[in-house]
Amino acid sequence: MYATLLTSFHNNILTITINRPDKLNALNKQVFDDLDKVFDIVYNNPDIRSVIITGAGNKSFVAGADILEFKDFNSEEGKALSLRGHQVFFKIENCPKPVVAAVNGFALGGGCELAMSCHFRIASRNAKFGQPEVNLGLLPGYGGTQRLVQLVGKAKAMELLFSAAIINADEALSLRLVNYVVDEAELLNKANEVLSVINTKSPNAIAQCIVAANAVFDETKNGYQVEATAFGNCFQSTEMIEGVGAFLEKRKPDFSKHL
Ligand code: COA
Repeated sequence: MYATLLTSFHNNILTITINRPDKLNALNKQVFDDLDKVFDIVYNNPDIRSVIITGAGNKSFVAGADILEFKDFNSEEGKALSLRGHQVFFKIENCPKPVVAAVNGFALGGGCELAMSCHFRIASRNAKFGQPEVNLGLLPGYGGTQRLVQLVGKAKAMELLFSAAIINADEALSLRLVNYVVDEAELLNKANEVLSVINTKSPNAIAQCIVAANAVFDETKNGYQVEATAFGNCFQSTEMIEGVGAFLEKRKPDFSKHL
């Protein structure tokens, strides 16, 4: 179905595996096209409640943009590549369903940027993060300069961007770049476990949380206004009726059906 992705669906969770292990899952044009396509399905299929993105093999999540593909680009082509990266990663970041990166090895360059476009990250102990673009005479082009600053703060982001330093999973945890570090064999279990809990909550309320939290980083929006609108929109929704009704009836809410 996809030239560069594997997908599996279990327990309302879609796992997307970037599948170019011989190239350490580097992001080429086809991977972007495939991610774009699969996220159309994620957006539109109500059975999909949440998503895990991971990499094939045990060595790499994604080792960056495919260097061979862009090595002869001119300035215009470089900019177009960056804008395409932004578009696909915005689609992931603004996805109305939780998207978690399960980082199973190298998350370098575009791989770190892909992980940062997900709503949060879980890393295996062998994970390595970095933005090594300055080694290539480049800077991150898929939103990395923006999201790294958002996630770890400007000063540490600047150091990482300038130095091309590769950090390990524990350092990433201490910088709050990842939420958990687990043994390699436990990585997908942990991601599934976290999402299984999230999947019992109101999908509409979660979608509104995503809209409101993302507004913090959107200069064109007043996040408090976005929050107020989102809060108002939940009232009298079938899911609020179920959630509040369950509380009053002293039972667990059931959001499993498409309300
Ligand atoms: N683009 C294209 N191909 C890549 C790649 C990338 N970003 N990262 C790895 N590969 C390819 C290698 O060229 C190699 O292909 P080959 O077997 O056909 O020669 C294969 O993946 C395996 O990589 P290799 O370098 O042999 O593995 P390693 O274990 O020695 O080193 C890394 C792993 C991640 C340290 C190293 O591959 C690397 O530095 N990659 C580039 C990271 C980077 O700069 N990313 C930002 C890009 S903007």
